[in-house]
Amino acid sequence: MEIEVQGVKVPALGFGTWELSGAEAQEATRHALEIGYRQIDTAQAYRNESEVGAAIEQSGVAREDIFLTTKIVRDSLARDKVGPAVDDSLRRLRTDYVDLLLIHWPSEDIPLAETLDAMAGVQQTGKVRHLGVSNFRAPLLLEAMERVRLLADQVPYQPGRTQNTLLDIGRTSDVMITAYSPLRGEGMKSPVLADIAGSHAKTPQQVALRWLLQQDKVSPIPRSSNPVHREQNFDVFDFELSAEEMASIDAIRVPARS
Ligand SMILES: NC(=O)c1ccc[n+]([C@@H]2O[C@H](COP(=O)([O-])OP(=O)(O)OC[C@H]3O[C@@H](n4cnc5c(N)ncnc54)[C@H](OP(=O)(O)O)[C@@H]3O)[C@@H](O)[C@H]2O)c1
Repeated sequence: MEIEVQGVKVPALGFGTWELSGAEAQEATRHALEIGYRQIDTAQAYRNESEVGAAIEQSGVAREDIFLTTKIVRDSLARDKVGPAVDDSLRRLRTDYVDLLLIHWPSEDIPLAETLDAMAGVQQTGKVRHLGVSNFRAPLLLEAMERVRLLADQVPYQPGRTQNTLLDIGRTSDVMITAYSPLRGEGMKSPVLADIAGSHAKTPQQVALRWLLQQDKVSPIPRSSNPVHREQNFDVFDFELSAEEMASIDAIRVPARS
């Protein structure tokens, strides 16, 4: 299953790699590719780009069949640092381009326009196919979109957590909302998910991923260090949630975080 954003086809379900390191990161990514994941999410801050790169090479999957995302770490957002940071990522990832380059977190020190212009410069060299941001709320996303064309904003999105404003922007402006931490949070414990899971003979995690996949322009990127979970998380294309089930998951609420 793919989603289409700005004419770009992106594998709808990605594999997240945060907190995976060393041999575990490599094996998890290799296995994810083996069982069908074609979107891989890493970051300079995860310190696992080398392992992700090795896994891609080891998998035998053609580079052009993989949608690879990395993110610029906070310390490298200045004009003169973006290009070298991307070069370092490419070397570690053993590739000559990434599909999507994100600002990992907004910076309080470096003007947004400065970073975006530097990223656009790198994009022109072909080392980066598309630009995006992460952890940007709506006003900042809109500001960034005025400066450069952005394919995605990667934000936390899971049952019990709403992202309605960003979803509206995604739909109206054709921007992908990448759902990170799709399986975390109190909402996962909701009996609503358990009931729906029971009626489809699926797990609550599979239902949560399906709920995200059935939303326009939304791409969940679950992570797992467990091969059984990785397979379960990819086994979400053989059932469909009804409009009623979607609405009841939309309505899950969790106590506000302090
Ligand atoms: N841009 C950002 O700032 C940002 C921030 C956070 C995350 N991310 C990205 O989003 C990805 C996913 O988010 P995340 O890693 O925070 O959390 P997640 O994928 O929502 O959840 C991971 C947790 O869920 C468990 N899990 C996974 N599949 C499961 C299943 N089928 N059944 C039961 N438990 C399951 C995992 O345990 P096991 O390992 O035991 O399966 C792990 O404890 C990250 O890896 C990263 O790539 C980006």
